[in-house]
Amino acid sequence: MHAREAHATDVGVAHAVVRRGVRDIGPSRDKRRPSPGEGGLSNAFSPLAWAPSRVAPRSTPDKVRDEALASAKILNASQRHNARLKCDDLTQGHVVWDSVPFRLILETNRRCNLRCVMCDNVHTGNGELAPWVVEKLFAEIGWGTMEIQPFGAGEPTLSPMSLLAPIARRYNNYFNFITNGVLFTREYYEDIADITGRVQFSIHSHRREIAQRIAHGQDFDLVVRNLRDAVRIAEDTGAHIVASQVVMDTNLDGLPDYVRFVADLGVRRILFSRLYPTSSAYAEHGIEVTRGPAEINDIAQHALEVALEHGIYLESNFEAIVHDPRNHPHLSSPFDVLHENAHIVELYRPDFCISTAITVFIEWDGTVLPCFQHRIPLGNLYEQSFGEIWNGPAMQRHRRTFLERDLQSFCSNCQRFFCDHA
Ligand SMILES: C[S@@+](CC[C@H](N)C(=O)[O-])C[C@H]1O[C@@H](n2cnc3c(N)ncnc32)[C@H](O)[C@@H]1O
Ligand code: SF4
Repeated sequence: MHAREAHATDVGVAHAVVRRGVRDIGPSRDKRRPSPGEGGLSNAFSPLAWAPSRVAPRSTPDKVRDEALASAKILNASQRHNARLKCDDLTQGHVVWDSVPFRLILETNRRCNLRCVMCDNVHTGNGELAPWVVEKLFAEIGWGTMEIQPFGAGEPTLSPMSLLAPIARRYNNYFNFITNGVLFTREYYEDIADITGRVQFSIHSHRREIAQRIAHGQDFDLVVRNLRDAVRIAEDTGAHIVASQVVMDTNLDGLPDYVRFVADLGVRRILFSRLYPTSSAYAEHGIEVTRGPAEINDIAQHALEVALEHGIYLESNFEAIVHDPRNHPHLSSPFDVLHENAHIVELYRPDFCISTAITVFIEWDGTVLPCFQHRIPLGNLYEQSFGEIWNGPAMQRHRRTFLERDLQSFCSNCQRFFCDHA
């Protein structure tokens, strides 16, 4: 099943902003480079060590990179080597790359145990990615990858951990979960805590009734307990534990109280992401439909003030939040590198698409895609090696559009939407 509707809702990415809302608006090519801040959304990366804005002079990207890699204790030598190869590929404008992705979004299946009002993903009628395909993939590129997002358009706790956890350990890769939290129990987490870098719990309100109205089938009290337990476990490992909410008309007013609520649970990172305008729920639940920009801004600003009081970092695509210099992570973690590695693109070729540079999405049927925003099939792992796909004609064509600033209109829209961030 490859229906477009399966992509009508994104699965989100580790960095913060769940990417969506930008659709292909035709085959035209757009050479215009979006200006910073254009499009109303912005960079939601943490402004940490790799960010060029924090280093001077700008002409020393290798120094920035080498310092960041030296302090990234969780990486091994071949993963560091891959990061350096990536810099060469970008800076030299290769269309055939020696480096491999940093992050694998691995959709072993597309199942889910909930039904959320804003989620357009189709969770039935899909199959499973064969274990041999996963093994083959890691045998080929596991030397360089760092991170596994064990889901695609479904729920990661329904992934086969008995297959993925040993592979993650064998290849020194770390999990990044975006989960509805129902099955992310203390026992589940303890078994994989050594290989988990981030867990993002989707809890769409601090009020039980609203949260459960948004996520049909979610046991709010259970998920809150799981979140609290996860915070305790992560105190030992340093993993990022994130409370995440898709902001809609029903939960917008509660943002400041949501911050207080999760602060009491010990959470120090929150993701507030806007509902994708392309969602079928948008007409009914989109905040821009029912509220004015000033009101939205005031509420976001208020939530930020509460977050600052509590030492919480807000990942977000709300203007009022991302542009505030006071909003930054307050704690460092051994897993920061899994997010900050995206800054390589800013440092070495800022025009290039970050997702295309560092991530691949492997669908349950073996299809390989460079991103979630627009479905660009590059090949299929059942029929080809990863290398044949990664450096195949479709990927070369796609890379060339960035290198030659001859962007597809959907890429151009996407870069504008996220202000050049993935
Ligand atoms: C598709 S879900 C998959 C992971 C998991 N099942 C969950 O809900 O956390 C990935 C993320 O996308 C968010 N999401 C779902 N529908 C969305 C929409 N229409 N707009 C923005 N984010 C959405 C979810 O809240 C979640 O944070
Ligand atoms: S938990 Fe909700 S948002 Fe996540 S995949 Fe399932 S239905 Fe979609």
